[in-house]
Amino acid sequence: MRVTDTSDLWWKTAVFYNLDVETYLDWNDDGVGDLEGLAHRLDHLAELGVTCLWLAPFYPSPQRDNGYDISDYFGVDPRYGHLGDFVEVVRTAKDRGMRVIVDLVVNHTSDQHPWFRAARSDRDSRYRDFYTWRDEVPADQPANMFPDVEDGVWSFDDEAGQYFRHSFYSHQPDLATDRQEVRDEIAKVIGFWLQLGIDGFRVDAVPHLIDTDDGAEHGFLQALRGYVARRSGSGMMLGEVNLPYDEMVAFFGEDDGDELTMQFDFVANQALYLSLARQDARPLAAALSTRPTLARGNQWGNFVRNHDELTLDQLSDDERDEVFEAFAPLESQRIHGRGIVRRLPPMLDGDPRRIRMVYSLMFSTPGAPVLFYGEEIGMGENPSVSGRGAVRTPMQWTDEAGGGFSRAEADDLVAPLAVEGWAPEHVNVSRQRHEPDSMLRFVQSLVRHYRASPEIGWGELTLLDSGHDCVLAHAVVSSTGTLVAVHNFAPDGRSVDLDLSGLLGPDAGEAGAVGEAAGAAAGHAAGAAAPRLVDLLAERSVPEALAGDAHHRIELEGYGFRWLRVLRAGEKRLV
Ligand code: GLC
Repeated sequence: MRVTDTSDLWWKTAVFYNLDVETYLDWNDDGVGDLEGLAHRLDHLAELGVTCLWLAPFYPSPQRDNGYDISDYFGVDPRYGHLGDFVEVVRTAKDRGMRVIVDLVVNHTSDQHPWFRAARSDRDSRYRDFYTWRDEVPADQPANMFPDVEDGVWSFDDEAGQYFRHSFYSHQPDLATDRQEVRDEIAKVIGFWLQLGIDGFRVDAVPHLIDTDDGAEHGFLQALRGYVARRSGSGMMLGEVNLPYDEMVAFFGEDDGDELTMQFDFVANQALYLSLARQDARPLAAALSTRPTLARGNQWGNFVRNHDELTLDQLSDDERDEVFEAFAPLESQRIHGRGIVRRLPPMLDGDPRRIRMVYSLMFSTPGAPVLFYGEEIGMGENPSVSGRGAVRTPMQWTDEAGGGFSRAEADDLVAPLAVEGWAPEHVNVSRQRHEPDSMLRFVQSLVRHYRASPEIGWGELTLLDSGHDCVLAHAVVSSTGTLVAVHNFAPDGRSVDLDLSGLLGPDAGEAGAVGEAAGAAAGHAAGAAAPRLVDLLAERSVPEALAGDAHHRIELEGYGFRWLRVLRAGEKRLV
């Protein structure tokens, strides 16, 4: 990897930040966040070090699924502003060094979309075939994604006189994406937003999107990616594919990674929570050890939480129960029999050591980090909001009434704020900006170190033996350099003895290239200057020579963590 590759394949080392315009900042004080408000907060995001915004759906919508029920693909919901405001946001974000990606939700439309309205009211409409209809419910009905809300994936529409298919809510009819006319329309949606200056899409519900009666149609995904690439040199697609690793591989594109550019790593995410519940790093280590190797242009999106439930559907029933018991003891904190509707800090009882350990892990795991708004200040959820809405409370900017999100009356806010210990009075950006030891400053420092460590985005993962079940020790090795990280899942300290000799030989990953590039002998051979280690997160850290046997001892506190950069002799890296 050349340093200049990091600009071409920008997503490999991007810091993503997902927000919903509706809950970010309300500039006109009508209770609903808006694009103008977001424009005013781009400096906060730039200061945090974010390099790519992912905007949740902001399109016209009846809002029965938080905007994932779209009634017009080419517009902006008037409550947030208009297309001109959107363009201003994109342009200003670019000026601040940030790209923008938007949600592409084309597995389904809202039942209020003009296509569905025309389809249901007239069998002869050209839009009838944009959806899938049956006279009878087919015998082999797949499960609905919201099994506690919907009986199945077929619902009868009185007006249409037939059953229509919906993988999600019955107000979200599935588009017949196997039809060319539908694909042509989807292409226009993609072309439209790219033309407005965005750099890609978070693609919703991908396995459903390409699902046909004959199985998954990867040719369609390939065609979409090809189209994105033709319309935009830098365009990418970050897909939502919550499947086991061996099934995810196909969604990157079996041959040369020519389908989804990135996928969220749901497998490691779920294993992370099992590890947290057990205070044992092994479930996460086991997951990471089976992570498929990706083609050069592909990437994992690492995340701690997102706008949905924390889904635990890939764990076994017993494992899921363990996580439920540890982090969602109340039935009201669970949803769909598979997930948790909480944010991380309340799940960890607000313990800053443990919360920080988790984010340190996310930023040091090979891949690109994806933050959910509010994570940078340790926001909690509002348990009185039912379902997934609990984690979608307004961003907390100040300790004022309305949390600095809006001056509208509490009853007029688009969503209630977090309460009690998690209320804006206690958790807000404004205060944390001025506290050197705040979560905000901490996350900002992680972002800074991540951005200065392109090996995390480009390198190969090596799991190291930490000697303790509760300590995950891993290294990322690339031609840029080598980073070693250790994370303690237990509340008590551990003494960790790391054997780094495997990382120093010329054959370890691309590591040899570093020595060559620096004109120095690779490895730790007799006579060569010893490699040095730098503790990156420590405040005042001096590079320390690595012992001749390449062993390094670390005294790790409870929930402690370290990032160590390995500096080879002659290396020119700035530390
Ligand atoms: C995705 C979204 C979720 C939405 C669903 C249906 O899973 O993340 O919020 O409800 O798709 O669009």
